[in-house]
Amino acid sequence: MVRYLITAALPYANGPLHLGHLRSTYLPADIYTRFLRMNGEDVLFVCATDEHGTPIVVNAEKAGKTPKEIVDYYHKYDKELFERLGFSFDSFHRTSSEENARMTQHFFKRMKENGFVEERSVEQLYCEKCGRALPDRLVIGACPHCNAGNQYGDQCEKCGHVLKGSSLINPQCSACGSKPAIKTSRHYFFALHKFSGKLKEWIEKNEAFQKEVKNYVINWIESGLHDWDITRNLDWGIKVPGAENLVFYVWFDAPIGYISSTVARTKEWEKYWKDEGSRVVHFIGKDISYHHYLFWPAMLMSVEEGFVLPHAIPVRGYLNLEGKKFSKSRGWYVSVEEFLSMFPADYLRFYETMITPYTTADADFYWKDFMSRINNELVANVGNFMYRTLSLIKRSYDVPMNFGHVDENIMKRVKERSDEISGKMHAFQLKESLDSILALSSELNAYLSANEPWKKDGEEKLRILSTALYGAYSLSIMLYPFIPHASEEIWKQLGVRKLMWKDLCKTPKEAGIKEVVEVKPIFSKIDSKLIEQLEIKLRKGQI
Ligand code: 2FM
Ligand code: ZN
Repeated sequence: MVRYLITAALPYANGPLHLGHLRSTYLPADIYTRFLRMNGEDVLFVCATDEHGTPIVVNAEKAGKTPKEIVDYYHKYDKELFERLGFSFDSFHRTSSEENARMTQHFFKRMKENGFVEERSVEQLYCEKCGRALPDRLVIGACPHCNAGNQYGDQCEKCGHVLKGSSLINPQCSACGSKPAIKTSRHYFFALHKFSGKLKEWIEKNEAFQKEVKNYVINWIESGLHDWDITRNLDWGIKVPGAENLVFYVWFDAPIGYISSTVARTKEWEKYWKDEGSRVVHFIGKDISYHHYLFWPAMLMSVEEGFVLPHAIPVRGYLNLEGKKFSKSRGWYVSVEEFLSMFPADYLRFYETMITPYTTADADFYWKDFMSRINNELVANVGNFMYRTLSLIKRSYDVPMNFGHVDENIMKRVKERSDEISGKMHAFQLKESLDSILALSSELNAYLSANEPWKKDGEEKLRILSTALYGAYSLSIMLYPFIPHASEEIWKQLGVRKLMWKDLCKTPKEAGIKEVVEVKPIFSKIDSKLIEQLEIKLRKGQI
């Protein structure tokens, strides 16, 4: 039996979410999950806040708070915002949880027993002034691979290489700017190189991986995998058993958070992680491909406890804002919270899906483009068809009716489209599915206009309106994964509870629809004046 465990990359509990965070990861993961649930699949959707690592330590220091205070605040903040966006996690846990500490320490123990972890002496940077080691984001310097300046000691933002602080050119303590000293310390290393062959074979064989991603990951393997320092001299993190001065590196315990979030949800967590038929799908942004295609599967292999390897790891690119990178400090920024104070969550879900094909290419959020897609596609196409259909019915029949006779051609067309859309959804082509749904909506609008039910009566009128009604709830089913709030509103107006994908084959009567209970437009147009103001605000750095 197939069973799905879907994850969205864990957001750092370290600052407010902006529009760019949603596009590559949380939104596609939620759309895919909702689609599977509508098909009656056994699926769990898990996420958590990623609560360790040096950026959180640095931010807490700046804010005069403890790391715990920062992560408590942002865990709650993210959870609430995700709920408002309609992200339907079955579990939204935390990497600082008991479950995660236990699972992380267990992984470490198994990896050590199996001979994949060894202790080594390393030279690491140390700030005499701050009196501490300088791993990851506590140090800044130039990248030894591409020479880009101002890079942190964990990863180069310019060329994407995973770095070692001690290899940075002209390193400085990121807190006080001092030139660091070098000290020797004992650390634990994960022998990633031992998995090169297995990883390569697994990646080459996997047909669900994107070709472009396969190519760059195979390249990484061929240019040699380095063993990986999985411990840090920090106070904030999960303690390494038997080494009281060490905690695990944030990227060691974070993916384990996928498992512990499942553990927190169900005693039967192993069904999702170990049964042969289980499909684990990780939705990620392209910057964390290395961690998900290499580190994480190698960790799963190394514990030798029967964990299934990821079935698919859909990768998408970054979102820019009007041609430039989001930057909170430079004021080039729109937070999710600000967006939701002006527009419904479904508008964001719709627009971001429309600009996100299944590739690693980057895209841009433009206020004007946002307005024109909402007004021309969501309001004028889908919203218009729904409203026209439901109000024609409500005006014509104010008693329950037998909406039994659906035009066969339309029924056939909807079925063809639904097969096509199903195929695309299973292949993670979500924007491509939405395009097909919009095309179907245009066809249905054309059907209504061509058949002019307002000029007909009797059986003929009932047949046309039953057909349009069938089209309307078919669209609401197909659109539910993308814009769930709007679909739920339509179902309310039709007096039905949640519909499922299989209801696409049913006439309105078979689906239990007897009348239109109420009619309200589900969307409203965006005013161009508001958009102009938002553009001006952004340019002035006031948002
Ligand atoms: O890059 C990030 O934002 C990380 N917090 C993602 C972690 S995903 C996972 F592996 F836990
Ligand atoms: Zn310092």
